[in-house]
Amino acid sequence: MSDVHVVILAAGMGTRLKSSKPKVLHPVVGAPMVEHVLRLAAALAPTSTTLVVGHQADAIRAYLRDRPELQFALQMPQNGTAHALQQAEPLLAGRHGTLVLLSGDVPLLRAETVRLLLDAHRSAGAAATVMTAVVERPYGYGRVIRTSGKIVGIVEERDASPAQRLGREINSGIYAFDLAPLFEALRTIATRNAQGEYYLTDLVAVYRRQRLPVETLIVEDAREVRGINTLGELSEVSAIMRQTKNAELMAAGVTIIDPVTTYIDAEVEIGPDTVIHPGVLIQGRSRIGSGCEIHANVRIANSVLADRVTVHDFCLLLDSEVGEGASVGPFAHLRAGSIIGQKAKIGNFVELKKTTFGPDSKANHLSYLGDATIGANVNIGAGTITCNYDGQWKHQTVIEDGAFIGSDSQLIAPVRVGKGAYVGAGSSITEDVPAGALGVGRGRQTNIMDWADRKRAAHKKT
Ligand code: UD1
Ligand code: CA
Repeated sequence: MSDVHVVILAAGMGTRLKSSKPKVLHPVVGAPMVEHVLRLAAALAPTSTTLVVGHQADAIRAYLRDRPELQFALQMPQNGTAHALQQAEPLLAGRHGTLVLLSGDVPLLRAETVRLLLDAHRSAGAAATVMTAVVERPYGYGRVIRTSGKIVGIVEERDASPAQRLGREINSGIYAFDLAPLFEALRTIATRNAQGEYYLTDLVAVYRRQRLPVETLIVEDAREVRGINTLGELSEVSAIMRQTKNAELMAAGVTIIDPVTTYIDAEVEIGPDTVIHPGVLIQGRSRIGSGCEIHANVRIANSVLADRVTVHDFCLLLDSEVGEGASVGPFAHLRAGSIIGQKAKIGNFVELKKTTFGPDSKANHLSYLGDATIGANVNIGAGTITCNYDGQWKHQTVIEDGAFIGSDSQLIAPVRVGKGAYVGAGSSITEDVPAGALGVGRGRQTNIMDWADRKRAAHKKT
């Protein structure tokens, strides 16, 4: 939106979190808190976006390097929300229009709701519009004070009288401001309050004295403006965000058997007719196709599953790809760089790492396949191990189309098993097996006749 400037406050100490990590970098459903607020800001397509940082500013700036669209204002020391906003003044010098103030610790807010705030602000021609909410538990928030229905002030929990504390309309900490009178007015705010800080909330009373119009927008869903001040609130807000994500997915045709135990990150995409069983976590930038079935207690991170994939119970899939109709697990581990072809089968206790596993191939039981390229229609017997590491270097194993690896074989890399070749069970393969050949690498069996009977007889005599 033209002439909209976003400022996000994120300089506070976050004392109540009792954590050494900056508050806005704490993850909420897969992404740091500030990430959700930045996504909201971007959705408004503003002319500028300014983040006010202070406490642990370096850590926050380091996390947000590579974002040319962001400008940073430094607040040192952190003397309150009005003081924080003042730090953005030099960056907004000569700008006109509307400043939207967001809080780095209010991550559930939706762009639609901010648009309603802007509409209300513009149509009323207000100098300031405060987003408020009516809540059941107002404890900790600033209370909105009204006279004849008009907002006349905001009083913080610590400064409120017992009567004021009964009020259930709270300040969300989200505002729209006309830029013209704003910074001049901020300079008149004093620190006469319990915390000795410059409170942005005092601006309402200042504007009232200056006879500048202040309006409010009461949000429909108060959950959207929930702020995070403690780790308890962080988990509550995370739970709300997860519920919202689950509800969106279910509305789009995904079956979630137990939403309470299903953890799906905000950016995950899932196709219709996919069924998610209890205890599943799907994280990061994962994409799951349609008609898939993800059984209980599975974690999938940054992975892509095509349509009709089945993941059986207790699997871990990280940075991997699974082709259409393939099946994984139970108890399988796909480590980074595993690419499973169409209709392939990865069974119990099979671990893959940086391995391409061709279409229709099978590794049904107990295998480690690392740094390998495995073709189509390959059968990997139970207990097969690619010995990819010599203590210093990693080496490649190549198994060509249609090969059959007998059970309990070790493929000592670098090594290649040619097209259609067989490896005898229990082999240690140290040399390439040519296409169509049988490779056997094990000691021959000898049977010593009557040995057991003689041993037993000798035992009896003594
Ligand atoms: C603030 C509001 C309160 C409102 C609540 C909504 C004030 C005085 N109070 O209270 O009315 O109900 O938000 O969530 O504004 N910050 C800075 N620099 C500072 C202080 C804070 O950048 O010096 C930032 C914080 O990092 C945070 C935001 O401002 O992102 C709000 O600060 P916080 O201390 O959490 O204010 P609340 O007590 O929650
Ligand atoms: Ca807060």
